Amino acid sequence: MNTQDIFDQLWKEYAKRTPSAEKIKTLFTQEGNKINNDHVAFRTFDDPRIDISVLSVPFIEAGYEEIGDYHFPAKKLYAKHFEHKTDKNAPRVFISQLITSEFSFELRAKVKAMIDRIPTEELDASSLIFKGRLWGTPNHNIYQELLNETEYAAWLYVNGFCANHFTVNVNDLTSLNGLQAVNDYLKNNGFKMNTSGGEIKGTPALFLEQSSVLADRVMIDFEEGTKEVTSCYYEFAYRYPMTNGELYSGFVANSADKIFESTDMKLQEA
Ligand code: NI
Repeated sequence: MNTQDIFDQLWKEYAKRTPSAEKIKTLFTQEGNKINNDHVAFRTFDDPRIDISVLSVPFIEAGYEEIGDYHFPAKKLYAKHFEHKTDKNAPRVFISQLITSEFSFELRAKVKAMIDRIPTEELDASSLIFKGRLWGTPNHNIYQELLNETEYAAWLYVNGFCANHFTVNVNDLTSLNGLQAVNDYLKNNGFKMNTSGGEIKGTPALFLEQSSVLADRVMIDFEEGTKEVTSCYYEFAYRYPMTNGELYSGFVANSADKIFESTDMKLQEA
């Protein structure tokens, strides 16, 4: 698949789970902006059947290469970022994985059982990223137990493989100047921002500022009945030029650490 097709397909699925993103994109477009993506992010577990090296396959096949990696000790995550070798307009790809060895035996057993339930024919690296939840109907008790240890695993258990967020390139917006203007515009239009660690994560000195709206909520059919959980969210990134004049292209671990919390049910209730 070429880059355009990959992101078109991912957006289609993401927009279904994330009506806010579709609404915001429409608002920005109506203001005359052209929407470019700064990056698209994915979550997975560190099991070799589905880890970063597997999820990154369609991007590598489409001409991407690995650029950097990041550690999130508090959340027990590891991540890599990929960029297209020649197409400078292609979004960056950010894939994180949960370091399951740092969690309880019970959590590791649940994650293993989940992955064991994936039908072998679905474990095709080239298309895994599009496939959503591959381990059948979730159990709400298991969801709660995962949630008690890590929101990340609980989110992944119900949402499966998909784009966790798309990120608007704020530098390219013509109607709004900078991230604060974007945030004010979104709040005026009734959207709720993730305020964990402040509404804007990062600083001009770090060359990257990021913000995000709180994740949407979807009704999920659990074995025990239908319940509402978080799905995905829309992020906004503004990049600053470095001393060589080029825009910074990496990520800032401390900022991403807080952005991860956009799917946390606890923030939704705050
Ligand atoms: Ni992001």
